[in-house]
Amino acid sequence: MILLGVNVDHVATLRQARYRDETNTHGGFVEPDPAAMAWLAEDAGADGITMHVREDRRHVQVEDVQRYLERKKTRLNLEVSLSPEMVDLALSLKPESVCLVPENRKEVTTEGGLDVAGNLERSREVVRAFLDAGIPTSLFIDPDTSQLEASAQIESPWVELHTGSFARAWFEPERRKKELATLRQGMDVGVSLGLRVNAGHGINYENVEGAKTLDGVYEYNIGHSIVCRALSNGFADAVQTMRRMLNE
Ligand code: PXP
Repeated sequence: MILLGVNVDHVATLRQARYRDETNTHGGFVEPDPAAMAWLAEDAGADGITMHVREDRRHVQVEDVQRYLERKKTRLNLEVSLSPEMVDLALSLKPESVCLVPENRKEVTTEGGLDVAGNLERSREVVRAFLDAGIPTSLFIDPDTSQLEASAQIESPWVELHTGSFARAWFEPERRKKELATLRQGMDVGVSLGLRVNAGHGINYENVEGAKTLDGVYEYNIGHSIVCRALSNGFADAVQTMRRMLNE
């Protein structure tokens, strides 16, 4: 069975759009709450929760992670960059695993994979620090043989293959086939190097049909489309409830 890691970053994105500067919760009305959605996701069948604390704190805040951890039922996969500040923070939060991702302040979301091959020494040092603390690392990389080999060389036990190019190619049959073949090859290389291979980014309710054909993926980490689905499935109910309350 392929495991499902649910990424709740964009629950926090929505909250930050309105309540970025709030320091108190106004009795719980600073919403939506990423920790509460993480607990709901766990009850609904998520195998794990992913949160990305970005250097610029644009969505998930450290307090969200701490609150989630107080009542977690599954496990936290914490995404952070390789910066010393973020590595120290992740070590102090003691997640079950970390996923190391590139960060560029101007990007809307994580765009490319981590350049492990080009930052071998820093990547090795960070992987070692987490492994010494008993926290397995995953490296978010493009499905590229040189990045997979570098990840194995520095002894990261896991990688996460970036599925963004595949997701963008989904509606163009030729590109879709090519991107799926690239991912498949990345999977095979990863597995042959002894890596546990997770995957994610841009997976939605359409392209998951193709994504799940990739034999060997241990876990998919999925966020944006789940948050969007929750919005569209819940919108009519939310309007009806408000309509009824105004009528009463
Ligand atoms: N994996 C990683 C490493 C990510 O950074 C993200 C979010 O950017 C995801 C998976 C989930 O991507 P999405 O929100 O597109 O499902």
